[in-house]
Amino acid sequence: MMMDDGFFWFRRNRLVIPGVRGEHLFMHVTDTHVNVCDEAGTDEEREKAEKQEEMWKTFKERFARANGEPYGDEQRITTLEAFEKQLALAEELRPEALLLSGDNLEYSHPAGERYLTKRLGEYGGKLLCVPGNHEDQTFGSLWTPGVKTLDFDGFRIAAVDDSRKMVSRDDLDALHDLCREGIPLIVLCHIPLSTPCCREECKEKMTGMNDYFYIDGETADELGREFVSLCEKNDAVKAVICGHVHGYYAMELAPGKKQIIGSQGMAGAVHLLTVAGD
Ligand SMILES: [Fe+2]
Repeated sequence: MMMDDGFFWFRRNRLVIPGVRGEHLFMHVTDTHVNVCDEAGTDEEREKAEKQEEMWKTFKERFARANGEPYGDEQRITTLEAFEKQLALAEELRPEALLLSGDNLEYSHPAGERYLTKRLGEYGGKLLCVPGNHEDQTFGSLWTPGVKTLDFDGFRIAAVDDSRKMVSRDDLDALHDLCREGIPLIVLCHIPLSTPCCREECKEKMTGMNDYFYIDGETADELGREFVSLCEKNDAVKAVICGHVHGYYAMELAPGKKQIIGSQGMAGAVHLLTVAGD
């Protein structure tokens, strides 16, 4: 069983949404920061990938220690090996969808893109991904401009690109339209949101948490503020799941509305989300 592999550690959440039929399991993985060099790559590309890989050996451990999360020899594997393990786990668990909340690649590089296109193309299940701040905002057919959705029995998951600490006008309009349909919505994005309800909790809980790590509902630019406000105040939005922080945190964006931040997938973190009716 992949689950018993010492590499993985899990956080589980259960989201109850009235009207949902059945139980729906999702595997949420974030910040895998994959570096790849392959046969077709240049020497320069290889050097950069190796340098970035080396840097994360230290950084991922530092994040894990700072957040009090598991870290040992099992986590000391390459970003590529970690991503392969995450995919194998997804094949084993067969969630209703695999949700990748950004920084899938350490940076947009040709070998990484070839790898991700091939491996996610081979993945047998449903998949939603958003780009992270480390990546280009458009990449082949894996992530393109526009809000992407997956529909389930009584709710919907919407992938929104907030990797530049804002959401485009078109995407905000699309989100408003989705909310008007009245179908309960779970928002998948990269950068966490900060609202009055979670602000104190954020500051207290997240080590070294500063403006870099979230979109502040008061101080972000206009398109960022509108995104935060929509997620916070619109009743159609039931939860936000994201990454970026490299530590696991769960908090309330508004009373009864959770924001769940997945930790770094390259160090074995997996967030399992169950959605069910009441
Ligand atoms: Fe990241």
